[in-house]
Amino acid sequence: EDDELNVQSQELKKLLKSLPRERGWHGRYLYLYRDFWVPGYVLTGVISFQQNFQAKDTEIILVTFPKSGTTWLKALVYSIVNRKIFSFDNTPLNTSNVHELVPFLELNLYLNGLNPDLSGIPSPRVFTTHVPYPSLPESIKSTTCRIVYLCRNPFDNFISLWHFLMRTRPKDLEPLSLEYCFDKFCTGTCGYGPFWDHFLGFWNESLKNPNKVLFLMYEDMKMDNKLQMKRLADFLGYPFSENEEKEGVIEKISKFCSFEGMRDLQPNNSGDKVAERFDVASYFRKGEVGDWMNYLTPSMADRLKKVVEEKLRGSGLNL
Ligand code: A3P
Repeated sequence: EDDELNVQSQELKKLLKSLPRERGWHGRYLYLYRDFWVPGYVLTGVISFQQNFQAKDTEIILVTFPKSGTTWLKALVYSIVNRKIFSFDNTPLNTSNVHELVPFLELNLYLNGLNPDLSGIPSPRVFTTHVPYPSLPESIKSTTCRIVYLCRNPFDNFISLWHFLMRTRPKDLEPLSLEYCFDKFCTGTCGYGPFWDHFLGFWNESLKNPNKVLFLMYEDMKMDNKLQMKRLADFLGYPFSENEEKEGVIEKISKFCSFEGMRDLQPNNSGDKVAERFDVASYFRKGEVGDWMNYLTPSMADRLKKVVEEKLRGSGLNL
């Protein structure tokens, strides 16, 4: 029995019972729902999000595979689209944690399976999800709302995920070995996995419809944040003017939203919870590229490299 399936409807309960399931890294079940693995506690949220969310044309939807820099992307997009409204001194980012200002859909707004009234949220509304492209609600695909996808090299993505899940794992459970989790990651059995399907869904859409889906890489953002921020602002319809460029607005936002900048803001250390369970501070660890080299053995790295090569072959996505 999975005590986390807080489902009231008998019909839904029946559906969920029929899904293939596996023990996840937290020791609780993952369910294979429409070709991706969903942690039990998020399933009702995913279904309610799919059934109820009505995107508006002006909406901005941020999508990531968990631990690929969602928190950073949220801060950047929020700052870019609100830069004419708030200064750095009075931005709500100083008083509310970033996940509150740019909420997760299935992990926050729809988590309890309800259909919340979102009409009070001012435009442009920015929301976030980890749900793969094929399973997004129809209105996200059929309206002109924009999708920004942030991808991270799977090596660092895995290490970040492992640290996060170990840090937030219930204290009464045994720690899981890196090797065990690595095996699950390479076979695709982790929340919202397999990672390659997740990446490819958005990658292919970004090729087909570049005005609809912008595909960004964490590593590019680290290497040339200014250039990527310009791409982001142009795509969202909030381009930086020449004057703003001269005044260094891009650099200022970049610095404000940097790892150190965000980590040290009071609300991101407040003990607030994300998805009703994860301490907001656990979304800030190191924020670096290449940390995987401190953890993966050469044979592990070789295995993941082969998985990536095999799964992404022919796609044009080079990681
Ligand atoms: P590490 O564990 O490698 O440090 P997500 O936001 O998708 O949960 O991803 C979390 C990862 O992004 C963590 O990676 C975290 O440290 C990093 N991160 C958080 N804020 C960041 C920022 N402002 N700039 C760069 N990386 C950031």
